[in-house]
Amino acid sequence: MKFKVFDSYDEISAYSAELLAEVVKSKEDAVLGLATGSSPVGMYKELIKLNKDGKLDFSKTKSINLDEYIGLEGTHDQSYRYFMNTNLFDHINIDKKNTFIPDGTVEDLLDGAKKYDELIESLGGIDVQVLGIGPNGHIGFNEPADELKMNTHVAELTEETIKANARFFASEKDVPTEAVTMGVGPIMKAKKIILIASGANKAWAIKSLVDDVITTKIPATLLKLHPDVTVVLDKEAAGML
Ligand code: GLP
Repeated sequence: MKFKVFDSYDEISAYSAELLAEVVKSKEDAVLGLATGSSPVGMYKELIKLNKDGKLDFSKTKSINLDEYIGLEGTHDQSYRYFMNTNLFDHINIDKKNTFIPDGTVEDLLDGAKKYDELIESLGGIDVQVLGIGPNGHIGFNEPADELKMNTHVAELTEETIKANARFFASEKDVPTEAVTMGVGPIMKAKKIILIASGANKAWAIKSLVDDVITTKIPATLLKLHPDVTVVLDKEAAGML
């Protein structure tokens, strides 16, 4: 696991965009595993800039997202589909038909989850997976638990995650309590992983990445078993290293 510590969020974003751009350039139909949250927003802005400047082409690129809240339509301004469209897809030359996000509104969520795994399989897996990290060490919505799931599943959000995500909603009670998330299987099978973290509230979770323990109670610690992870962070998030 490589750690890259920067002074500012802008530097984190530029560096992460460079790593992702390398993959897009090296394989025209690359499959990008994408994440939502505040951590990758700056990186998406950089990618938009590269695309607008004609330096990066997404016309054949495919993307698959980690997760989606249950019950929010793609048009809801807090849905992850809306997030991806407005923060990235609407501004680059990616074909929206090649962008995949779990659907949290289907009636049969189990069937939806199974189909999502089949989709990941049919895409041939993920070339590069972008991850944020929850303050409790969650990745995607794989929350701390006695067991973690390999495959896409319905996840109940922990109180800590609901609190952490309440800042995006009118109030805490508006935060959905469940989500559909990719399991840890496809994440760990991604060829390359870029984990982005900024701010002191991530310092504890980041420290767990260097401690000599792998535990489902801190899902991100599994990443220690992956051969190609770059953790891109600011001094605050690196504060306990
Ligand atoms: C959310 C998402 C995660 C994300 C995390 C961190 O709960 N499900 O995929 O990585 O929170 O978000 P942020 O980057 O806003 O701190």
